[in-house]
Amino acid sequence: MSNVMRVGIIGGGLMGREAASAFGRWFVLENLPVRAELVAVCDLQDRLLDWFRQIPTVRQLTKDHQELLRNPDVDVVYVAVPHNLHESLYLDVLAAGKDLLAEKPFGIDLAAARRIRDAAATSGRFVRCSSEFPFLPGVQRVVQAARSGRLGHLLEIRSCFWHASDLDPTKPANWKRQVKTCGEIGVMGDLGMHVVHVPFRLGWNPVRVYAQLQKIYTERPDGKGGTAPCDTWDNAMLHTEVVVDGREVPMRLETKRLAPGSTNTWSLEVLGTEGGARYSTSEPKTFWYFERGREQVWSRVELGFQTPFPTITGGIFEPGFPDCFLQMWAAYAAERAGVLGDRFGCVTPDEAVRSHELFTAALHSHQSKAAVSL
Ligand SMILES: NC(=O)c1ccc[n+]([C@@H]2O[C@H](COP(=O)([O-])OP(=O)(O)OC[C@H]3O[C@@H](n4cnc5c(N)ncnc54)[C@H](O)[C@@H]3O)[C@@H](O)[C@H]2O)c1
Repeated sequence: MSNVMRVGIIGGGLMGREAASAFGRWFVLENLPVRAELVAVCDLQDRLLDWFRQIPTVRQLTKDHQELLRNPDVDVVYVAVPHNLHESLYLDVLAAGKDLLAEKPFGIDLAAARRIRDAAATSGRFVRCSSEFPFLPGVQRVVQAARSGRLGHLLEIRSCFWHASDLDPTKPANWKRQVKTCGEIGVMGDLGMHVVHVPFRLGWNPVRVYAQLQKIYTERPDGKGGTAPCDTWDNAMLHTEVVVDGREVPMRLETKRLAPGSTNTWSLEVLGTEGGARYSTSEPKTFWYFERGREQVWSRVELGFQTPFPTITGGIFEPGFPDCFLQMWAAYAAERAGVLGDRFGCVTPDEAVRSHELFTAALHSHQSKAAVSL
């Protein structure tokens, strides 16, 4: 395999451009034996294709994704489009013999996710799904604490992703607010992969779920002077149980678009009888830990820039969203090249399918007002 990973992007909106920015500063990574180069972009909108003209390595701009997939210079395709298009575009990428970094939720529903997973396995291509927060240094410290065995018997786990952006009822509707384009699972499809990636990787797979789902605003301005229906779930609280060391442990998974006071607030807390660990993007360089002693003390550690993939950035600086997104891409490139080592990897197709199994069970739980076994 060449040490240059040549990438094509299908969908140059919010996340397509974020990916371009990550490739544009790949040189910040130290000692990674793979270089990423953005060579081709497909979007339906001229203004977005024009935006990519400023990137010197981009040699193909097209509105036809099949044209991009016929490009022999493209090794890996990143697809960042609305959820109703995931399945057909992901399958086209695999049929073209390209590797894939898919976006969450990996298909609009469970059936689509399973078909994508099966096609990925049959194709033999390298396929992963996007979820970037685990690559923040503070999250890595929570993972280390959980794996250390020093937390004692686990008491509870809480993994949350909160937005407040939809509290404003005058915010126009977009494809993420409608079932036909976002999926029946609504906010769980938007934010859910981010809250299950670490738990799944640590082996915390829910055996049961009781879900509380909320829809608050049922219509919004359509941006053209009228209104548009909004029929997706806004908030989801999943009360689950996982089995750790033979004992059932409560694990709460929260995904919210209506979370007063939160911007892009991702957090993870693990509590045990001997210790605890927590991290939130609200305090991007702060890791909290607890060790049982005579007094009840949570200790605060000021972390720096100790990312899984070393960079030239000074060790005392603080990381943010673009940094963990670049780190995730480094993990994708490293795993694809066989040099991930013991570092955290991107979401696998099996994990993505498992997330859909959980979110589908959550829909059933909410409807029946009862816990559902998995
Ligand atoms: N990892 C993250 O943190 C994160 C954050 C936001 C969104 N996402 C995911 O990324 C994906 C895209 O979300 P977004 O916020 O970037 O959406 P977006 O609406 O900003 O961008 C989607 C783009 O896809 C383009 N598009 C639509 N159909 C196309 C086609 N047939 N061919 C080529 N381009 C097409 C649109 O023109 C648009 O520019 C979704 O799956 C979403 O869940 C991930």
